[in-house]
Amino acid sequence: MMAMMMTSTSISTSTAQTLTGAIPPEIHCAQDYESLARRFMASPSYEYVAGGCGNDLTVAANLSAFSQWDIYPRLLRDVTAGHTVVTIAGQTFAHPVFMAPVAFQQLAHTAGELESARAAHAMQSCLISSTLSSCRLEDIACAAGPQRWFQLYFQPRHGDTLDLVKRAEDAGYSAIVVTLDASIQAASHRAQRAGFSMPSDCVAVNLRDHAIPEKISLGPDQSRIFQGVMRDAPTWRDLEWLMSQTSLPVWIKGVLHPLDACSLQQRGVAGLIVSNHGGRSLDGAPASLTMLPAIRAAVGPAFPLLLDSGIRSGSDIFKALALGANAVLIGRLQMYALSVAGALGVAHMIKLLREELEVCMALAGCPTVPDIDSGALIRRVTPDQRHAVFPITN
Ligand SMILES: Cc1cc2nc3c(=O)[nH]c(=O)nc-3n(C[C@H](O)[C@H](O)[C@H](O)COP(=O)(O)O)c2cc1C
Repeated sequence: MMAMMMTSTSISTSTAQTLTGAIPPEIHCAQDYESLARRFMASPSYEYVAGGCGNDLTVAANLSAFSQWDIYPRLLRDVTAGHTVVTIAGQTFAHPVFMAPVAFQQLAHTAGELESARAAHAMQSCLISSTLSSCRLEDIACAAGPQRWFQLYFQPRHGDTLDLVKRAEDAGYSAIVVTLDASIQAASHRAQRAGFSMPSDCVAVNLRDHAIPEKISLGPDQSRIFQGVMRDAPTWRDLEWLMSQTSLPVWIKGVLHPLDACSLQQRGVAGLIVSNHGGRSLDGAPASLTMLPAIRAAVGPAFPLLLDSGIRSGSDIFKALALGANAVLIGRLQMYALSVAGALGVAHMIKLLREELEVCMALAGCPTVPDIDSGALIRRVTPDQRHAVFPITN
């Protein structure tokens, strides 16, 4: 007997009632939103979203890291009690597919983050709302479900940073995700070549009331980077200060080095997000997936670890879970689906990813997320390595 998976464009009765619009018939898997988004977004905006920084070396590394692993099919295991529920740092989630903080979502849809928040709510996905959102964090909180976290960028003045944290607390966000890997971002050559500039009506509204910091004048021997931009970059002291200011759990996003992971763990953060910002920060940084096993080994089996950068399918999610992540964050696919079909598109994309993950779990004989471990994967062998891995005996 063979069961065929049909790609369904229906979500669920309750979701379909609240999210209106249409899913184009070309969408058969979550990644299809990527190619279709080209038709729905202005070309410079698409290039801005799709590109990384510099020459996209890390964007490419993120994608190829997943293709270096294959998943073992396992036979005759009963998975009929299977589910995707995960418990992370004491919180239970219906599935491990979270929405990454993605700034300026009005580039993809006029209602921007409000649509993504509604989709996340409908699909029981944890939403991480960006400091640089184009809708107010309070409005996003109203549209989002109970599982919502706030992503914080340190501001040049502690008072402004604290203002964001207090607003997030008041709006009912249940964790603060501090992004530390993007104090400065190299320009995206891809976006530059496409002539991208941020539209004047797409602004970081959460920061609107913050006074513009005074311009510093640099001496002739001073660097625009070190003494200029990086003067406002947070340090370990700032992180300690922040943790003393909030009772919310503090997660750190942008961790790639096992030693940083250990130092952060020792300082009492709630968990870490292994990420290279989707290749948008340091071009030439390793793929997040490549660093995941070393970071899991460094922090131990029980410490909460999430991963993002390069996830485009349910099998990518399976591989991240197998290599030590407790859940994953979806970045660009969120923007692509938003541009194609608003909240309905984002909800559909989450549904597809979840089902793609469930198919992998079923065929790999892993009925629950804790059943997925590195034994489920094998490094892909190239044709010239094949004889070394599987010696021919006759
Ligand atoms: C257009 C865009 C805007 C982003 N804005 C933020 C942000 O405001 N804060 C943040 O921590 N990460 C931001 N990120 C990074 C994402 O949170 C995430 O790390 C990354 O997109 C994951 O890689 P993926 O796009 O391959 O899934 C942004 C990414 C994109 C593509």
